Amino acid sequence: MTQSLTANNKARLVVLISGSGSNLQSFIDACDNGFLNAEICAVISNKGGVKGLERATNANIPNIVIDHRSFDCREQFDEDLATLIESFNPDLVVLAGFMRILTADFVIRFLGKLINIHPSLLPAYPGLHTHQRAIDAGDKEGGATVHFVTPKLDGGPSVLQAKVPINTGDSAETLASRVLSCEHQIYPRAAQWFCQGRLVMKNGVAILDGDPLRDNGIIFDPTSEQ
Ligand code: GRF
Repeated sequence: MTQSLTANNKARLVVLISGSGSNLQSFIDACDNGFLNAEICAVISNKGGVKGLERATNANIPNIVIDHRSFDCREQFDEDLATLIESFNPDLVVLAGFMRILTADFVIRFLGKLINIHPSLLPAYPGLHTHQRAIDAGDKEGGATVHFVTPKLDGGPSVLQAKVPINTGDSAETLASRVLSCEHQIYPRAAQWFCQGRLVMKNGVAILDGDPLRDNGIIFDPTSEQ
């Protein structure tokens, strides 16, 4: 793959957050323990004072706040954000709870190297309040999806999904916490596939080890070494 790897042969990541950053923490841990052959070059948040920034500081990762409220329009924010990201020359841009809708221009600038995690079994429940919507619909399963980002909101090709049962009496909060712990397992894993050059997006299709991933992508199996 054509990557500008760091001198130590690690892929360069930029992680975008807006809040608690528990997924960011899973990346920090995966880089530290060698599961993920990557270096987080920067953490960027559109909100100041969030826990994710503290996590970055604790891990000695440069972190920057670019507050969307100080911009007149979404286009200008995205333009400045894209320029900032590019200054770190990333191989992969990781959206980890980044709560902003991105313009098509931004997405196209990073197409094929922009990934997201969404707390539902896509294509079910794009957008917000995914857990409550799944509970209200009487679904038996919820989960999370890692996907490439395309201009269609939460609509890019799925790479890896984790499923969790929805139990009687679950609230959005209890379900969210169960799903979140699965997110921490699948997100660094999908990123590692990308960093190894095994995962690419071509013509809007996610491809793993040369095979196009259809429908929901790979379903995570915690017992598999993949
Ligand atoms: C996660 O539920 C993720 O699926 C969604 O935003 C949340 C981020 O949580 N995109 P955290 O900030 O990583 O803890």
